[in-house]
Amino acid sequence: MKSFEFYNPTKIVFGEGKTSEIGAFTAPMAKKVMLIYGKQSIKKNGIYDKVVKSLEEAGISFVECSGVKSNPVLSFVKKGIQLFRNENLDGIVAVGGGSVIDTAKAIAAGVYYEGDVWDFFLNKAKVEKAPPITVVLTLAATGSEMNSGGVITNESTLQKYNLHGELLFPKVSILDPVNTYTVPLNYSMYGAVDAIIHLLETYFNGRAEYTPIQDSLVEGLVKNIMEAAAGIIRKSDDYNSRAVMMWAASLALNGLTPSGAGAAGFPMHMIEHALSAIYDIPHGAGLSIVAPAWMRYAAEKDYSKFAQFADKVFGIKNADEALAASQGIKALEDWFRSIYVPVRLQDVNIPLDDIPKIAENARGLARRWGMKGEYKREIIENILRIAAA
Ligand code: NZQ
Ligand code: ZN
Repeated sequence: MKSFEFYNPTKIVFGEGKTSEIGAFTAPMAKKVMLIYGKQSIKKNGIYDKVVKSLEEAGISFVECSGVKSNPVLSFVKKGIQLFRNENLDGIVAVGGGSVIDTAKAIAAGVYYEGDVWDFFLNKAKVEKAPPITVVLTLAATGSEMNSGGVITNESTLQKYNLHGELLFPKVSILDPVNTYTVPLNYSMYGAVDAIIHLLETYFNGRAEYTPIQDSLVEGLVKNIMEAAAGIIRKSDDYNSRAVMMWAASLALNGLTPSGAGAAGFPMHMIEHALSAIYDIPHGAGLSIVAPAWMRYAAEKDYSKFAQFADKVFGIKNADEALAASQGIKALEDWFRSIYVPVRLQDVNIPLDDIPKIAENARGLARRWGMKGEYKREIIENILRIAAA
């Protein structure tokens, strides 16, 4: 196991009915907040009314910043920063999924910074000061509710990049599984895929040799997520399935499972971000296309961890590690098909002639994430061709 530091200051308030406590949890930190949310789901399902009532009861006034789109964009972040400054606000309450929370983090990073907020995404600046963020999570997927990162697309350059900073951890995140009952089936399943791939990025890419704790956490959580997905498909308002999905997705990207596993790149995310940047497809849908292809490419270098995955997650036992690895990858892909997510570029109508362009876009993140030597353009193109085969 490698040496590590693990730090996660986000307070999680989990359970049915906890949404009504957002005001009380926010009040000690802020009195006039930005209430940020997406397009229309929270108005339709009643979460908006609960949040507003709770803020009013706690004596918090708010200014609305609504309309965050899925795969959020830089121009919206800039408008949010202006609004925050003009209204002299002192906190942000984010109500939504990853797109809303990430936008809140980018706004928080930008409000006290005099330069261009995109500087944080290019590692040209560090977040030195930020207003407190509190969250009501409405979609289980990204883990943004319990981590310090955010992902925004610069729509003029088509760069889908991330920022991070300890001050961007939400102070409090309310996880009420009931809030996710209305998430449509497709987005519920994209969320399951995203959480699984967060776990698998470090499982397959971590550089430590002895990782029994990390491995069993990942293998267990992957199975929990698969079972919860089945429960949600059977019954969209199954509390226990939604609860398992919600907590598992937070644990999948809150820093816990990579601790001790050694530094790991995120190559599946690197390639996926190019897809959602260029074609605006949901992040989880891009991952279900990229992941099996990347796994087929990576397994050839060393079959052993992929064989372990096949055994521990799917019960596939085979003395021939290469065969076991390929059966495990096929089992994951078959499971993706069974939850109705795409597994080939063609499934989301991406023209195969675009493969060089996608690879070039992904190279931007390869450079940013320290993978430029390992993931040359030809290699990324090869992986994308596997995703089209
Ligand atoms: O806009 P509204 O009307 O609210 O609809 C949203 C949106 O259309 C809807 N939705 C959310 N909660 C709902 C609901 N519909 C009904 N009932 C509810 N309770 O779902 C749609 C998708 O929402 P979005 O926030 O975009 O999904 P997700 O949480 O998957 O976030 C995706 C974004 O997060 C980034 C992704 O790249 C993508 O941009 N990621 C963020 C990460 C992080 N900060 O740590 C890590 C991830 O790897 C990922 O990159
Ligand atoms: Zn992800």
